[in-house]
Amino acid sequence: MIKKNDITFQFNVLCQRTKWGEGDSVYTELVYITTDELVSFIIYYYHNDLDKVVIRNLYVDENNREKGIASSIIKSIQQYCKKNNKDLCLWCHKDSWLYDWYKRIGFQYYNIKDENTVWMIFNDL
Ligand SMILES: CC(C)(COP(=O)(O)OP(=O)(O)OC[C@H]1O[C@@H](n2cnc3c(N)ncnc32)[C@H](O)[C@@H]1OP(=O)(O)O)[C@@H](O)C(=O)NCCC(=O)NCCS
Repeated sequence: MIKKNDITFQFNVLCQRTKWGEGDSVYTELVYITTDELVSFIIYYYHNDLDKVVIRNLYVDENNREKGIASSIIKSIQQYCKKNNKDLCLWCHKDSWLYDWYKRIGFQYYNIKDENTVWMIFNDL
C-alpha cells in the first residue's frame, strides 16, 4: 500500500515468478498493479545478489501522469530499500528526461546497459 497525500494506492501482486536470467542466475520477479489497473511496476531480484532490487516497467496511465504518482511510488520503494539495506537499481535511456529525473531523486549512474541505455543505482544508506 502506497500513500500520496490523501490518496492510497492499493497494489496487488498480479503474479510472482522465478526464472533463469542471464548466465546461470535465477531471479524472482513480482508484477504489481493497482486495483484500478492504472499504475503498475515490476520488481525483481537475483537470488545470488539479494542486496540489490531492480524496478522496471514503471507505468502510470496516460490520463494520470504528471501528478506525482510515480514519484511517490519510487519514494516508497526507496524507503523500503533503505530500511532493508538494499540497493535499488533501474535502467533508462541516458538522453532522456527520465535519466534527469532519477538523478534528481537520488539515483546515480552505475553502468552501461547497452548502446543507449544505462543502469542507475540508489544506495543512499
Ligand atoms: C515515467 C512515468 C511512470 C512517470 O509517471 P508520473 O506519475 O507522470 O511521474 P511524476 O508525476 O511523479 O513525475 C516525476 C517527475 O518527472 C517529471 N515529468 C513527468 N513526466 C514528464 C515528461 N513527459 N517530460 C518531462 N518531465 C516529466 C515531473 O515533472 C516530475 O519531476 P519533479 O518531481 O522534479 O517535479 C510515466 O510517464 C509513464 O508511465 N511513462 C511510460 C512508461 C515509462 O516510460 N516508464 C519508465 C520506465 S524507465
